[in-house]
Amino acid sequence: MDVYEAVRSRHAVRGFSDRPIPDGALERVLSAAAQAPSASNIQPWHAYVVTGAPLAQLKKRAGERLAAGDPWDDAEYEQYPPALKSPYRERRAAFGEQRYGALGIPREDLEARQRAAAANWDCFGAPAALFCYLDRGMGKPQWSDAGMFLQTVMLLLRAEGLHSCPQMAWAKFHRTVAEIVSPPGELVLFCGMSIGFEDPAPVQPRTGRAPLGETVTFVES
Ligand SMILES: Cc1cc2nc3c(=O)[nH]c(=O)nc-3n(C[C@H](O)[C@H](O)[C@H](O)COP(=O)(O)O)c2cc1C
Repeated sequence: MDVYEAVRSRHAVRGFSDRPIPDGALERVLSAAAQAPSASNIQPWHAYVVTGAPLAQLKKRAGERLAAGDPWDDAEYEQYPPALKSPYRERRAAFGEQRYGALGIPREDLEARQRAAAANWDCFGAPAALFCYLDRGMGKPQWSDAGMFLQTVMLLLRAEGLHSCPQMAWAKFHRTVAEIVSPPGELVLFCGMSIGFEDPAPVQPRTGRAPLGETVTFVES
């Protein structure tokens, strides 16, 4: 698969099949993804890959917390600025409309939206999950490095025929994730990523993107 095809075909998959991940695929992807760039090559990411019984346990515990109406864990970082300004606010709203509209959930039905969002904590049925942590002291450039690492992972997964969904949702249950992966205390959970083969049944609309002129400026003569 060429890089353009990997980029084009990657999308946030929210329905995975139970087809097992072939032996060695995740090791190949993670070994290659180690080549992701980082400022001064400090490689600030700490990835935990969870499968099998520990993943089943994590999904079970998260499901129990949801069912009990447990509050989210204390936020270790701000997921969005408190007042998202234009045009980001509109893009976020358009995403919500599309995501929940595709499920037939109207804008005002917050409860139904929350029910749909609950699938995050079942990893959308995926058989594997990756959790990306950073040292608490790391700054914006290092969080950006982690993003490059994660995107590299997601593109390499495409080369294996696999799909993914990056999920900040898991940061809301970071204590439950920590019970399973036992990270050192100085690490902060940035996000999870569900990994597996896409379930072809649910039709997921593809997200659009802002016109190039809104996000890229070519400065030339
Ligand atoms: C850092 C990050 C966190 C995300 N968190 C979630 C999440 O918690 N749940 C979810 O369903 N999608 C999540 N997404 C997926 C985005 O909604 C998705 O990438 C975006 O809408 C663009 O769609 P596409 O990836 O299908 O092209 C996240 C994406 C990123 C990069």
